[in-house]
Amino acid sequence: MPPDPGLSVAAARPADAEAIFALVDRWARAGEMLERPLAEIHEAIRDFKVARLDGAIAGCGSLRVLGADLAEIRSLAVGEASQGRGVGAAIVAACVADARELGIERVFALTYKPGFFERQGFAVANVMDFPQKVWRECVRCPFFSDCREIAVARDLRAGDA
Ligand SMILES: CC(C)(COP(=O)(O)OP(=O)(O)OC[C@H]1O[C@@H](n2cnc3c(N)ncnc32)[C@H](O)[C@@H]1OP(=O)(O)O)[C@@H](O)C(=O)NCCC(=O)NCCS
Repeated sequence: MPPDPGLSVAAARPADAEAIFALVDRWARAGEMLERPLAEIHEAIRDFKVARLDGAIAGCGSLRVLGADLAEIRSLAVGEASQGRGVGAAIVAACVADARELGIERVFALTYKPGFFERQGFAVANVMDFPQKVWRECVRCPFFSDCREIAVARDLRAGDA
């Protein structure tokens, strides 16, 4: 898909937090992703990217560093009216570029949409490859014992485009 000329992705600013909350909340209510409280989004705002289509916020996502060589893409959400225009792919590409710049070797996500991530060069993985995530966060999640999210990962070391 050729990139949409009106599409841009940039680091989120504190003033974007409410729009990010609204995007995530819309899909969390539909059971498509986990919710993120507004206060948590404010605290993690430096991790977030926002995508704009013709100037208006169309999507968001965050890259959270979990270790010296591991980061997680989370809270990836594209507004209903903006889907299918490369917004999600552009946010993932921006997160991967950030990870590379930080010298991170592996990026992963837990998702209900593994097919989307496979299109972005990720492969299905075993969640237990990421004990930093499972034992720090997943254990506190209300869905821990009945988790339907699928782990996907992308190796950023040489050889992976
Ligand atoms: C999943 C989501 C992020 C995709 O964003 P998007 O902007 O619509 O996707 P894009 O237009 O960037 O699509 C990029 C590619 O992925 C494919 N794709 C998009 N959604 C897909 C899905 N659910 N399953 C498989 N492939 C998908 C597209 O067909 C496109 O393929 P191409 O490279 O061959 O053209 C978006 O639909 C969304 O926010 N959904 C609700 C919340 C959610 O599920 N978030 C992800 C949970 S971690």
